Amino acid sequence: MAFTARSVASPRVINIHDLRRLAKRRLPRVVFDYLDGGAEDEFTLRENCRVFEDLTFRPRYAVAMPKCDLRTRVLGADLAFPAILAPVGYSRLMHPAGELAAASAAGSAGLIYTLSTISAHKLENVRAASTGPVWYQLYIVGGREVAEAGIERAQRAGFSALVVTIDTPVAGLRERDPRNGMKELLGGSILSKLPFLPQMFAHPGWLASFLLDGAVPQLENIVIPGEGPMPLMDVTAALAKAFVTWEDFRWLRKIWTGPILVKGVLTGDDARRAVDEGAAAIIVSNHGGRQLDGAPATLRALPEVVSAVDGQAEVLMDGGIRRGSDRSSRRLDRPRLCLRSRRGRPCRRQPRTGNSAR
Ligand SMILES: Cc1cc2nc3c(=O)[nH]c(=O)nc-3n(C[C@H](O)[C@H](O)[C@H](O)COP(=O)(O)O)c2cc1C
Repeated sequence: MAFTARSVASPRVINIHDLRRLAKRRLPRVVFDYLDGGAEDEFTLRENCRVFEDLTFRPRYAVAMPKCDLRTRVLGADLAFPAILAPVGYSRLMHPAGELAAASAAGSAGLIYTLSTISAHKLENVRAASTGPVWYQLYIVGGREVAEAGIERAQRAGFSALVVTIDTPVAGLRERDPRNGMKELLGGSILSKLPFLPQMFAHPGWLASFLLDGAVPQLENIVIPGEGPMPLMDVTAALAKAFVTWEDFRWLRKIWTGPILVKGVLTGDDARRAVDEGAAAIIVSNHGGRQLDGAPATLRALPEVVSAVDGQAEVLMDGGIRRGSDRSSRRLDRPRLCLRSRRGRPCRRQPRTGNSAR
């Protein structure tokens, strides 16, 4: 029998759900829920995962099985397998090494890392931390002048693509955050913090590393002229004013000379518009269910987008992907590849085997 052995590095971490369990144990609730949660009733977040249960493989057997080769190319870059690390804001709250560690791991694995604008390590250091390609995700926080300075820095540092996120015209209401005292803990008075402090003391390992790292970090890649890096507690208000419109793409194309990806597309109309505005790739995404609750699962939106793009740009997707089989089960719709961010959310799914001729 010619089975390829699968190696499992640690019996504690066999799949993404195990990582979620460990994160839940290590992090205070306010940090874990920020990472794990979605907007409002979290319908879209759940649906992103659940739709994979509607699909099963249609396996074909009794064929020779050559050695699997998962390598692929996206926007001219070679990847060891078809995944990219999606932008994740506030990563330094989860671990002091935050974006540096994630970029370094992506490079070692032969993958691309995407750095969020909402990041606390300097983008130059993040670029240097990875041996692979690194992309810069843009929010126009602080206005065009501030964004332009960030884009120019990213270009000089060697980021190879710009990911423009369009699905944040209003901030998603993530109800776990106010319940856990996110605002008070980031910037409130000592008195307002008091009710929320026990969750911190219950996680002394995280608390010690957070305090040794200088406590609440500032956003090193959003530099306000005459003031310096934006404090983390100012970012929610700044993001509320930071929406992107199609008119911004003309300006972006002038200042960014590399490829532009449009992230947050869920319809054929927006996909076509993105292509018209010069997008080299479209990312089908609903922000992991963190923005508009009630938006469709990305797997459902994918066929319409692929057909509208009609080969004129590369199509990537994210949302709800928790296993390699989630990705391969979408071969029919031919997304180029998928982005991974987080969350070993325990979504139940059917066991699947074999090839993905579905
Ligand atoms: C904690 C967290 C922070 C995120 N921050 C950003 C961000 O700064 N910019 C962005 O475009 N998307 C952000 N996203 C969305 C992801 O890039 C991605 O679209 C989404 O998480 C994919 O869904 P999944 O979590 O089900 O894999 C964030 C997601 C999470 C979970």
